[in-house]
Amino acid sequence: MTCYVHHTSIYKISEYSRHLKSLTDEDKYSRFGYLISDYNIDQLILNMCYNHKDHELWYARTDEMRVGWGHMARNDDGSWELAVSVEHEYQRQGIGDQLITEMLNWAKFHHIPEVYMHCIEDNKVIQHLAVKHDLKTKSRSPGERTAALSLPEANVFEANAQLWKEHNEIMTEFARLRKRYKELWSNAIMPKPLL
Ligand SMILES: CC(C)(COP(=O)(O)OP(=O)(O)OC[C@H]1O[C@@H](n2cnc3c(N)ncnc32)[C@H](O)[C@@H]1OP(=O)(O)O)[C@@H](O)C(=O)NCCC(=O)NCCS
Repeated sequence: MTCYVHHTSIYKISEYSRHLKSLTDEDKYSRFGYLISDYNIDQLILNMCYNHKDHELWYARTDEMRVGWGHMARNDDGSWELAVSVEHEYQRQGIGDQLITEMLNWAKFHHIPEVYMHCIEDNKVIQHLAVKHDLKTKSRSPGERTAALSLPEANVFEANAQLWKEHNEIMTEFARLRKRYKELWSNAIMPKPLL
């Protein structure tokens, strides 16, 4: 199955909220470390809206639908926390891995020195992915581990690839705004319909 990962903005936040709410109880527990309620997801989303500069989102999609999300959040101390979740029926197909790769590439390019991720002790899959991406995991509290990674600066190839990826994102946004601009003017010069 081909899957594409896109870096996205706050515009897609309602879809992120729907995704989080639709996770199975087991996946909610693995993602948040407790069985989060819809109310608490709404609080998280509201917080993201108020502080949107501190949040970055990615989604993974097949040709038909979005199947996974990556979220990086900047804390008050400037550290960045990374979290991922994939729709249950699309897990174990490399999507989580792809999301983490994209997120770490973005973080390196933007000179973020360190990222970390909370994992519950039983979540062997995310611990495997953390180690695969060179995050060092250590025990945090009973039943919980933290995986952290000091990020090197992007090398010239990584920086170039990320530069063009973000260039294309900006061009897509320009195209969207240009369409809106044209609609605005065509609306203004269109004759009013006869009553
Ligand atoms: C964790 C999660 C994001 C992983 O996404 P995914 O798309 O299923 O993961 P991938 O298919 O990319 O990778 C799974 C890897 O785990 C390995 N794996 C599978 N079962 C495993 C197990 N029991 N123990 C260790 N590794 C395991 C796979 O072999 C694969 O490794 P590889 O890439 O080296 O072959 C997904 O399971 C999920 O959404 N879980 C619920 C939310 C969550 O736990 N989020 C993490 C906390 S922030």
